[in-house]
Amino acid sequence: MKLHKNDYVNLVKLFKELFQVSGNKVIVSFLLQILTGFTQGIGLLMLIPMLSIAGVFSNQAKGSEFVEKLIVFLHRAGIPGGIEAILLFYIAIVSLNAWLNSYQSILNAKIQHRFVRFLKNRLYTAIGHSQWLFVSRLRMSDLAHEITSEVQRSGQVIFQILRYTSIIISIVVYVVVAFLLSAKMALLSLIGALVLLAFGIKKNKYAYDLGKSSQRSVKKVYQIVLEHLSGMKIAKSFAQEERYIHEFIEYSEEVEKKKIEYAQLSSRTSLLFSVGTVTLLSIYVYLAIKVAGLHPSTLLVLIYIFSRLLPKVSSLQTSFQSILQSLPAFTSVSQLQSECDRNVENLKRPENQDNADFQSGPVIFSDVSFSYGAEPVIEKLSIQIPSNSILCITGPSGSGKTTLADLLLGLLKPTQGKIFIDDHLLDARILYRWRKSIGYVTQESFLFNDTIRNNLLWTKPGVSEEELWEALKKASADEMVKNFDLGLETVVGDRGAQISGGERQRLALARALVRKPAMLILDEATNALDRQNELKIIEALERIKGTTTMVIISHSHEVHRIADQVIHLENGGISHV
Ligand SMILES: Nc1ncnc2c1ncn2[C@@H]1O[C@H](COP(=O)(O)OP(=O)(O)O)[C@@H](O)[C@H]1O
Ligand SMILES: [Mg+2]
Repeated sequence: MKLHKNDYVNLVKLFKELFQVSGNKVIVSFLLQILTGFTQGIGLLMLIPMLSIAGVFSNQAKGSEFVEKLIVFLHRAGIPGGIEAILLFYIAIVSLNAWLNSYQSILNAKIQHRFVRFLKNRLYTAIGHSQWLFVSRLRMSDLAHEITSEVQRSGQVIFQILRYTSIIISIVVYVVVAFLLSAKMALLSLIGALVLLAFGIKKNKYAYDLGKSSQRSVKKVYQIVLEHLSGMKIAKSFAQEERYIHEFIEYSEEVEKKKIEYAQLSSRTSLLFSVGTVTLLSIYVYLAIKVAGLHPSTLLVLIYIFSRLLPKVSSLQTSFQSILQSLPAFTSVSQLQSECDRNVENLKRPENQDNADFQSGPVIFSDVSFSYGAEPVIEKLSIQIPSNSILCITGPSGSGKTTLADLLLGLLKPTQGKIFIDDHLLDARILYRWRKSIGYVTQESFLFNDTIRNNLLWTKPGVSEEELWEALKKASADEMVKNFDLGLETVVGDRGAQISGGERQRLALARALVRKPAMLILDEATNALDRQNELKIIEALERIKGTTTMVIISHSHEVHRIADQVIHLENGGISHV
């Protein structure tokens, strides 16, 4: 069995994290497993006095020294008063064993699900807290896949490991009891078990590979679904939906194939073990009778033990395969987790959210440079944006206008130079507060599939009705909302698809204004609009001029007219217009 070194490392990591999350429960589970094994052993040994009373063990029977000792011990302890007492004790011990078993299953389920919740919450938090540049480069469908399916499969690893250890304990108990009855035969049963396990080893790598390849197929299905669903309109418009549907069907088949292959692997392993078991059992009986010359009574109990033991060995194998098949899921979850951790934003989030706002103040870029790769997008840029003034940015596509806005939002960190907000250096200490004070409108504004009211309240919960209407009025959107039949209760559809582009942009502006931002950033917010809607928004901006600092990326002459300064961005540098 060739596990990669990486997988061992991850297995160790899994245990470490499991112990961190529910160390106590895991220890209790192991103790319960031992206790369960112990009661199981006693239950097994109880067969002997039963058989003894039934007359299988005669006084002369020299089956085993241990059996004789046991019978004497039970006599002294006063247990075999009669068959009734023995049977009652047997019922009690087997019931106790069953109760321990069920308690342990519940405990294991708790351990598994708590671990899944822990992984899921930690990963989701890490994704939410990681730097924009890092997350923006990931595939959203991969993230969805990791958070849902892979985390769940990681929980399966835990479940199977707990099962695995309890099977091992069970096997140990059987072997020990067998030893007490006949050392020779016990050794033989142990060798038999190992031979069976050796048969299974070749299958293990296969199980691991299946786990990996099925992971790839499931991931692909997620990609197709997410891309298709979020681009449904464009897919339909280009008559490309069949492509998604075909791909979806193709990869669903792939997933099905892998699942069936795994089912085949599991059941063939079981088959191999069943045949192996019965063969070994027969050899065992043959040797016991012909070679060891055991007493029939001892033989009876040994056969019973052996017939129980071998299926356990089979379970041990399938359980191990299952661990191997699910392990790649944990590996990829922890990989993503550590990547997110490495790219964490580490913001200082104030406890009291109400006082988190910045007041309007001057913003200064001092020799700021930024590059995504080798080529700088922005080079040694210095600008001053006085408090409550309007800065307009123009420049050809790809000149770095959005990058500049992202720097201002703190979504990107300057590779060189500094940005000051109201005399504070823009860094992790003030970033969260700063973003809480920003109103941001982009070309394709994202509205939530909810009512207009809830969309507006999203930036500043608890705002009064008057303030909502005030923001709508400032954004030239009040008449429009009044004209909707349901007014503020109108639902806008996924990403605002049920209202027009102009309506959407004005609502996005109103949403930005609800929080009375210290700075309003508009990134080509009117670009996709017709002239009339564009003018409505520019009118709105003129109305709020002087009450907040504005950075407007736009090519419109009307915006240039209301701006206090206009800069033209090109080849990393700027020229004032
Ligand atoms: N996440 C990114 N990774 C790498 N390069 C990027 C990224 N975003 C933008 N760029 C590149 O940076 C340059 C400026 O992009 P951008 O600021 O979006 O321009 P604008 O908004 O002026 O059209 C472009 O050449 C673009 O290809
Ligand atoms: Mg842009």
